Amino acid sequence: MTTPTEPTRTAGGGGRVLIALTGVVLAVLLIGVGGYLWLSNGEGGPTALGGPFTLENGNGKTVTDRDFRGRYMLVYFGYTFCPDVCPTTLNAVADAMDKLGPKADRVQPVFITVDPKRDTPAVVKQYAAAFGSRIEGLTGTPEEIAKVAKEYRVYYAEHRTGPGPNDYTMDHSSILYLMGPDGRFIAPVRADQSGDEMAAVLARLIS
Ligand code: NI
Repeated sequence: MTTPTEPTRTAGGGGRVLIALTGVVLAVLLIGVGGYLWLSNGEGGPTALGGPFTLENGNGKTVTDRDFRGRYMLVYFGYTFCPDVCPTTLNAVADAMDKLGPKADRVQPVFITVDPKRDTPAVVKQYAAAFGSRIEGLTGTPEEIAKVAKEYRVYYAEHRTGPGPNDYTMDHSSILYLMGPDGRFIAPVRADQSGDEMAAVLARLIS
């Protein structure tokens, strides 16, 4: 009776091994691809991060990514009702720009809302102005925002806090993106650092 059971067990074991091996191979492939993309981005090489966008500025005027060519863009995604992370980050950006010296003239910090329902052009304009004159606030239709967020691989989602139409917060990823004068991604910049630290990072990355 051992002869029929042995091959069956072996076949079953072989199947499990095969499934496990497939999983390992897939994991290695995914890690490899992710690592490659991350490294190539960090080295300023070819990248798929960022891309063309059409949005509205604080005056309700249409702006596109091409309007920023010739200058570095420091892009941040957030929303004006954000209780803590966004204002802290934008304060640090404003501080970094003050401390960057003449190089600051080559950088345009851009705040793109992930809450276009509440963040109208007038709202983003007033909000950005609260952090100084250098930050440009942008909004758009929900579709335009979804498109640009996808290009920058930004995560955002509405989080309900009550039954009313405005009873919600936005979960969102918090990272700054430095884009070159040609519009290409240069490097991510950590949002959770002081203006001094951010200025030092930007000074190294900006030519
Ligand atoms: Ni925020």
